[in-house]
Order: sequence, then structure tokens, then C-alpha cells
Amino acid sequence: MLQRSKLPPGVPFLIRRLFFNLAPATAILAASRLLEVVFQLRPPTVAIIVIALLSIPALYILRIVLHEWHVRRAAARIGAVLPPRWEGRSIGNMDILDHVMERFYKGYITDGVWDKMGELGYLYAISIMWDTSYFTTDANVTKAVLATEFLDFEKGDEFRDSMGTVLGTGVFNADGEMWKFHRNMTRPYFSRDRISHFELFDRHANLLISKMKDRFRGGHAVDFQDAIARFTLDSATEFLFGKCVNSLESDLPYAHNDPIGPKLVREPNVAERFAQAFSEAQQVIALRWQVGWIWHMQELLRDKAAEHMQVVDQFLQPILEEAIAKNRAAKSQGSISSVDHKPDENETLLDHLVRFTSDPAVLHDETLNILIAGRDTTATTLTYAVYLMCLYPDVFKRLRTEILEKLGPSQVPTFDDVRSLKYLRAVINETLRLYPAVPFNVRVANRDTTLPNPNPGGPRVFVPAKTAIAYSVFLMHRRKDYWGPDALLFDPDRWLDERLNKYFTANPFIFVPFNAGPRICLGQQFAYNEMSFFLIRLLQNFSMIELDLSAQPPDARPPPEWASAEGQKGKEKVIPKSHLTLYVQGGLWVKMTEAEKEA
Ligand code: HEM
Repeated sequence: MLQRSKLPPGVPFLIRRLFFNLAPATAILAASRLLEVVFQLRPPTVAIIVIALLSIPALYILRIVLHEWHVRRAAARIGAVLPPRWEGRSIGNMDILDHVMERFYKGYITDGVWDKMGELGYLYAISIMWDTSYFTTDANVTKAVLATEFLDFEKGDEFRDSMGTVLGTGVFNADGEMWKFHRNMTRPYFSRDRISHFELFDRHANLLISKMKDRFRGGHAVDFQDAIARFTLDSATEFLFGKCVNSLESDLPYAHNDPIGPKLVREPNVAERFAQAFSEAQQVIALRWQVGWIWHMQELLRDKAAEHMQVVDQFLQPILEEAIAKNRAAKSQGSISSVDHKPDENETLLDHLVRFTSDPAVLHDETLNILIAGRDTTATTLTYAVYLMCLYPDVFKRLRTEILEKLGPSQVPTFDDVRSLKYLRAVINETLRLYPAVPFNVRVANRDTTLPNPNPGGPRVFVPAKTAIAYSVFLMHRRKDYWGPDALLFDPDRWLDERLNKYFTANPFIFVPFNAGPRICLGQQFAYNEMSFFLIRLLQNFSMIELDLSAQPPDARPPPEWASAEGQKGKEKVIPKSHLTLYVQGGLWVKMTEAEKEA
């Protein structure tokens, strides 16, 4: 049913590159042949070969010089300036690339390209091999890219290309008309809260909590990051497809130092294989994104995501076929309306989408896009919320008191309860501020354009077409000039006291964990509901939570020098890392005390 390209993605890339790079040499060979045939002139073969070879770098240099010239002229013509540039010491600034990669793998999450902000300002340029990108942590610049100048920026070909084998043409991975089509089709589903979602959160939360209790009773630590990722996967597959992959049914892993580990191995079922393959496919695309265009060279012989996507499709295909058939049958009996129907309470996202299209590729891509967009982000935020409550027991206690006062030890929360728990919302927002699930993101200019100058009153900054603008929400959320002198500290009260109006209300673009503008996260409300629901159930069930640092793998502990750093970095007990989304290196190993066992 679903057709995938058999050609490894590196091949068309290589053909395109070879065509461009060899074009001048080919032209010179053709010209020398022409001289010979038309004018009977035969230049020496060695000279032709030398000139042909030299023409390759010569054209490259010419292209760079012309581009620089165009950029300077175009900027000057409209009174714009170019941003400060990070100048390296080696050819093509390869030393900068080394520095960035080293910091990326060994340093704190903000290290690397971002540590130049102090010196160069909040918007600057880096050219690696004469390919220029801009980097920013400025709220006005980010606002322009995401909202006010939205039409000038897109995700771009490179993003689409690297994500293509997994995300296809879904909402997360599309630009222009294709994006509008997907967004308009999917948005109505998220426009209302559904009680059925709370029911499914409750089932999966109960299962996870009881599994965690079993482990804690035996004195074992639990990797909360792994556990909650199963909860969000099970919840998401159920509301998307109406079929849960039941990843919570499998054993939770044991810690590296646990006498029982490694975990028991048994043959995984189709749903478990889906969960595993889906994670692997995501890792492939995350890695592609990390290494840049080089990923094409690593996939000259095979598409590394394809084998995993085959497993994903095996699970998905019958579900899509069934939904399409059900919709056809209902249509032929006249029992369902057209696309302008009102979504009903119990329908899944797939039920909703089949009313718009019966194209299996569109349904496949769209549901998987929502799964990717919604699953890790929510799991990450819950992981860091629990981490922060381990670091700040007073916050845990106060939140638990709020929950117990409102709901007691076992009452299932409703939408109204979730909305009324102000401290809970403050804890979630403060988690999203310090550890936004998508810490870095990028857009590409689709034409020559300009951006606001981060220096107030300064001329606008010129952005040539095809320039990538990377923006770091993570750093923006930690800027003292935006959030006050205590910006680096975890303090949920900043969402409840006078600091709320002073900082956030005065300048809402300083807090954009869900993005902003026309591409703002579609699942924001769903995510707040899911995260709030889970935290309420967790704190109803456990009266104490703590990190089990002995269970943390030895290579996943912060280096001692971090301890002297200001703010959260100095307090880290785990290593925050990011691929597409933030995560905790080696997992978040915790122990909790059951509420019933309170003295
Ligand atoms: C804490 C949880 C979440 C966070 C922090 C988050 C964050 C984001 C961010 C930053 C983007 C923009 C990505 C980009 O355009 O580059 C985004 C987009 C999106 N999110 Fe979320 N998200 C969360 C949960 C969810 C959930 C639960 C769903 C759905 C169930 C969802 C669905 C989407 C979709 C469909 C988009 C693409 C929107 C578009 O491009 O038009 N998200 N989200």
C-alpha cells in the first residue's frame, strides 16, 4: 500500500553534487573538443587536464566571491547591516566546527556555538566551508522568524530531506501549501478537550504507577525517563489510532548496578516491535540532523531509517486500511457527513482524518508526524519536572499539598481541576522554561530578507536567501535581561508573583517552548492536560521522590567542574542532552515512597 523510494538518499544527493562540481571541468573538456573539431586546434592534453581540474576550485571560489559581493551590495542598498561573524583560524573555519562538536558531545547543553553570544551579541553568523548560518537567542529576532515575518522563513529542503524517510510530507515536515493542507486538516481535532483522553491517560497512568510501585517495593530504582516515554507512547497511539502499542506491558529496565539486571528477554510482539523500530527511526533522523549534509555520505548504500520504517509500517498498515474501509462503509450507508462534520467525543485522530482523505500515504505521514511531535516532547517535560522536584523537595511538597487539598489522595482529576491547580501550572511552565523540550530549532530564509537588530535602534540585519537561522529557546529562557537576576534558578513562583507581569506579560516572546506564530504547537493544550493529569496521579500516589544517583550509569554523571557554575548548571545531577528533543543522558533513575506508607 505504501510505496517507499528504493534509492538510498545519499545517491541523488551525490549525483546533484557531482553534477554541480564537475560541470566546469566537463565544459572545458567539451570546449577543447569543439576547438579541435571546428577550428582544428588541439591544445596539449596535459594543459586541458590541468585547466579542467583547476576550474573546479576556481568556480567554487568565484561563486563565493560573487555571493559575498551580492550580499554586501544587497544589504547596503536597503540600509541593512550584516551580523558580526565568528572568525575561525583555519581554512573554511573548520576549527570552529571542531570546537562546536567537541562542546556538543562533552560540554553543557548551551556550550558550543552558543557560548559566543557574550562576545558577539545575540545574533551572529558562522561560516563553515563558506556556508553561512545565523545564530540567535534574541526574542525579537525569534518573533520575526516565527511570527511577524513568517512568510520569509520555512523549515527548508535540508530539514525535509533529512526527516523525509520518517516524516514524509506530514504537518511537521512540510512547508507552504502542503503544510497548510495538513495543518487545516488536523487542527479541528485539537480544538476541543475530550473526556475520552482523560480516561485513557488514567488507564495508562494507573498501569505505570503500579509497575513503578512493584519495583520500588523490591528496593529497585526506576528509569523514569524510559517509563514515562512508554506512558506517552501508549497514550498517543491510542488516541491517534485507537490501538495502543502497550509498551508498558513489557518489563521496565533495571539499573546497571542492579543485581537482577539485565532485563529478561522475550520475543517482542508486533506492537513492541513498532515501539522499538519507531524509536530507532527517530534516532536515525536525529543523527542526520546533528551531522548536517554529511549524513548523505553515510547513507550512500542504504537508507538507515528504511528498515525501521518497514516494521513501523507493518503495524500501521492494517490500522490505516481498517479505518479507510470503515469510513467507506459508513459513507456508503450515508451514516457520516463530509469534512465539515463536528468531531465526536470518542473519535481518534485517524477517524477524524479519514473524513478528509483516503490516501494512505497522507494518513500514514500525518499520524506519525503527530506521534513524533507529541510523544517525546511531553515525556521530556515530565522527566525534567520529576527531576526538578527531586532537586527541590520543597516544590514537591507544596505541589503535593495543592493536589491533595483539591483532589484528595485518589480522586480522578477533571479538566476544571487541571485548570484550577495554579501551582501545578507554574511548576510545568518553570520546567518548560529551564528545560524546553525543543531547545534549539532552525528556519531557513526563502528569499533575501531582513531581521530586527538585537541592539535597540540599530539598522535591520540582512539575511540572504537560503541562510539558516538557528534559534535557541533554551538560552532565551535563561537570559537575565529577560527574566531577572534569578533567571538561572528554578522558581515556579515567578509564574505567580509580581515577576509574571514584570517579565513575561511585558514580553511574551521570551517564553516560547511551544513555538509561536502560525506554526505554534497544535498539541499545546493536549500536552498541558496530559502532563498535569500524570503529575496529579503521581503525587497522589507517592509522598516522596528522590534521585538514585548510584543507579545513574557512570558515564552519565556531570563533570565535577560544573558544580562551580551559576544557577541550574551548578546544581545538575544528570547530564541534559539534546538530539531533536532534550533528554537525560543515561536515563533518570529515581526511587519513590508510596503515599500509603507515610508515617
Ligand atoms: C510539552 C509538550 C510539547 C512541546 C514542548 C511541544 C513543542 C512544539 C514545538 C517547539 C513545535 C514547533 C516545531 C517546529 O515547527 O519546528 C511543535 C509543533 C507541533 N506540535 Fe508540539 N509540543 C508538545 C506536545 C505536543 C503534543 C502532545 C502534540 C500532539 C498530540 C503536538 C503536536 C504538534 C504538531 C502537530 C506540531 C507541528 C505544527 C506545525 O508545524 O504546524 N505537540 N510542538
